[in-house]
Amino acid sequence: MSIASRARGALTLGLAAVLATAGVTALSGTARAASTLGAAAAEKGRYFGAAVAANHLGESAYATTLNTEFNSVTPENEMKWDATESTRGSFTYGAADQIVSHAQSRGMKVRGHTLVWHSQLPGWVGGLAAADLRTAMNNHITQVMTHYKGKIHSWDVVNEAFQDGGSGARRSSPFQDRLGNGFIEEAFRTARSVDPAAKLCYNDYNTDGVNAKSNAVYNLVKDFKARGVPIDCVGFQSHFNSASPVPGDYQANLQRFADLGVDVQITELDIEGSGSAQATGYGNVVRACLAVSRCTGITVWGVTDKYSWRAGGTPLLFDGNYARKAAYTSVLTALGGTSPGGGGSAACTVTYAKAEEWSDRFNGRVTVTAGSSAISTWTTTVTVTSPQKISTTWNGTPTWDSSGNVMTMKPNGNGSLAAGASTSFGFTVMTNGTTTAPRLGGCTAS
Ligand code: XIL
Repeated sequence: MSIASRARGALTLGLAAVLATAGVTALSGTARAASTLGAAAAEKGRYFGAAVAANHLGESAYATTLNTEFNSVTPENEMKWDATESTRGSFTYGAADQIVSHAQSRGMKVRGHTLVWHSQLPGWVGGLAAADLRTAMNNHITQVMTHYKGKIHSWDVVNEAFQDGGSGARRSSPFQDRLGNGFIEEAFRTARSVDPAAKLCYNDYNTDGVNAKSNAVYNLVKDFKARGVPIDCVGFQSHFNSASPVPGDYQANLQRFADLGVDVQITELDIEGSGSAQATGYGNVVRACLAVSRCTGITVWGVTDKYSWRAGGTPLLFDGNYARKAAYTSVLTALGGTSPGGGGSAACTVTYAKAEEWSDRFNGRVTVTAGSSAISTWTTTVTVTSPQKISTTWNGTPTWDSSGNVMTMKPNGNGSLAAGASTSFGFTVMTNGTTTAPRLGGCTAS
């Protein structure tokens, strides 16, 4: 496709998406392929969201990354029972409200997570006898959904009600143990009566491929559909690592649920690892969702590796310095977008780490990682804060701006990198009394 026709296509689809989703920003105003996750997903008729913690919204790099790249949010913990009703009948919404207003004022959608779950459940709930527990559950659903009525596109009404392993049995919880199998149906019926406009989802993990647990959820949904119990969507958490990789039948599993007449959503995606293996996993998930017309959106479980619930596994799209990872490029490419400055599919990301340190100077190391395609060369910039000066560099060819504070670095000789492969260069910063970390510009590859 020519660049011009591709740009026209993007513009037409983008406008259609704006009209269809009223309020979700799909275009930045220029007629070119989408260059953010949210915009690229919107052009495919999907949302692309992140789990968000209210206490990080004040960090400017966190908020900027969220606001630029994502068009849906899920409060990571703030809507859970222990956050909203830690004491019976006393509801607290401060932190969740902060996330909802942040999202609403920027045209982002909000996923509600979660109303009935065995975890992050205050102790008082587990102490109730059956009739009282039923009242408390229905009241909790009613109060929280009423507070957010009209502001939530999808609610995880019930989370993780099935056991792991081959039994397909229900997980023990106060709800299951006192109210029996019917608690899920009761929760969904109550939820529908409170906010009929919200999509009502069942959400779980280890249900991402066809297995005993997903079969049990499948049978639940099938039964609900057959009996007219309200249910609109199934959430697939999609927490992956080397022991639990993206299943080969991921798309087929999403499709069989969609064929029951529910939407499917990827609700908590993260993939532990790095480089091309991680990038490939992310690309596979995105392509699977796009191949299932009822897969309406993808949420990753956090903005940056540094605040991930599995930070040690670096499972997200942005590293601890908010640099785009190879996984980011893989997702954006799978969504049909193009990295700003990336020529075609060639792309790279950069991360900074401080190395040795002395009283008057420190060494910095920048790692350059190719995106999901091989690259033949790369360029990035390192900016130091005056009166700092860079005194030495190695493994790169630097040029300088007139101030001497901005160094543009290119490869020293052959800049070729295989997809997902990394190289690094280093430099010494004379602090001259200022220890501020250098700032990296974007990475450009061809
Ligand atoms: C996790 C949060 O990310 C953590 O901050 C918290 O300590 C525990 O819960 N399944 C879910 C999510 O549905 O709510 C969980 O979130 C991750 C697993």
